[in-house]
Amino acid sequence: MTKIEMNNKYWVMRSMPEGSNFSECFELKTENYIELPKGSILTKNIYLSMDAGTRMIMTDREDSYLPPTPIGEKITGTVLSEVVESENPNYLPGQKIRSWGQWADYSIIDPDTMFPSLVDDSEIDLVNYVGILGANGWTAYVGVTETGRAKKGDTFVVSAAAGCTGLLVGQIAKIIGCKVIGIAGTDEKCNLICNDFGFDGAINYKKEEVSNRLKDLCPEGINVYCDHVGGPIAEAVYENMALFGTIAISGLLDYYSSSKRSPGPKNYDLILMKRLRVEGFFSPDFYHREKEFNPILKNWVNENKIKLPFQITKSLEKLPEAYLKLFEGGNIGKVVVEL
Ligand SMILES: NC(=O)c1ccc[n+]([C@@H]2O[C@H](COP(=O)([O-])OP(=O)(O)OC[C@H]3O[C@@H](n4cnc5c(N)ncnc54)[C@H](OP(=O)(O)O)[C@@H]3O)[C@@H](O)[C@H]2O)c1
Repeated sequence: MTKIEMNNKYWVMRSMPEGSNFSECFELKTENYIELPKGSILTKNIYLSMDAGTRMIMTDREDSYLPPTPIGEKITGTVLSEVVESENPNYLPGQKIRSWGQWADYSIIDPDTMFPSLVDDSEIDLVNYVGILGANGWTAYVGVTETGRAKKGDTFVVSAAAGCTGLLVGQIAKIIGCKVIGIAGTDEKCNLICNDFGFDGAINYKKEEVSNRLKDLCPEGINVYCDHVGGPIAEAVYENMALFGTIAISGLLDYYSSSKRSPGPKNYDLILMKRLRVEGFFSPDFYHREKEFNPILKNWVNENKIKLPFQITKSLEKLPEAYLKLFEGGNIGKVVVEL
């Protein structure tokens, strides 16, 4: 363990959030030295990725895909950062990496458990490595092509469609040749996904009756649904699935703030009646495939087939406001905090 004297501000939870009261539950603390364990890397954070899925580990659920974030400990998430000290010969000062890290000025990274990956920002802005060229891009790619098994001519629906992952999912489904309908929470988002991102239709779930609108927009039935929310939106989609359709479950935003399990769709029987395939998928299971995914995604960026807006908050202190956007619908595209 090496002791390094330095000032480091970092976020902890003083209590588990209820709903979205992040500014009450998060606390910014300062330490004046850090201890770098043997074999670890110390990095200066440049971007902190705000990811809706991290909300689930801010509950006391023990059966989620990751363990709960302990009260009082540094909050973790994906970061883009530059190596400043290294006890590991594979990572050298000055190199930029994407990895799990801490919501802080600096991250301490254990290379064996925190998925560090060197990134090259000579030809593309660094921030893309937490967008199209990061877990959101890979999730969207796998969700459409592998879990969703979408093919040309399919009718494809995605929820949280104007958020980071949803926008990428919709654009990839268009590249494959699907008819794509997005579900989002404002008219502005619905207009944008159709006019700027090539979606074929959109439904404002806060204003419109989703099941009826899906009937109008997809009378042929839905072949693939990429679910980001669960709840009543998913139930409305189940009603409109085609026979032998696929539900690729990427996220369940409707339940993330609850410490209890979701009740599941009330029309569960439709899985049998319509012979649906329902499958969940989780990006850490395919992080190791970065070298396979990123050339494909980079080509699509260069061919102007896929793009992603960023909503950048330029201050560690304002992190709770940035994070809140994901749960109150305040974002279009990817939310990041820049330090
Ligand atoms: N499986 C994986 O490995 C993986 C990886 C990355 C992301 N994801 C999933 O992808 C989804 C989106 O995550 P993200 O980080 O990219 O966030 P995001 O989509 O950029 O932001 C979340 C958006 O979801 C919408 N939303 C929030 N609560 C909702 C609710 N209860 N019902 C309907 N819509 C709601 C909001 O927009 P509007 O309400 O205004 O539409 C908000 O802007 C999450 O479910 C996340 O878990 C999964």
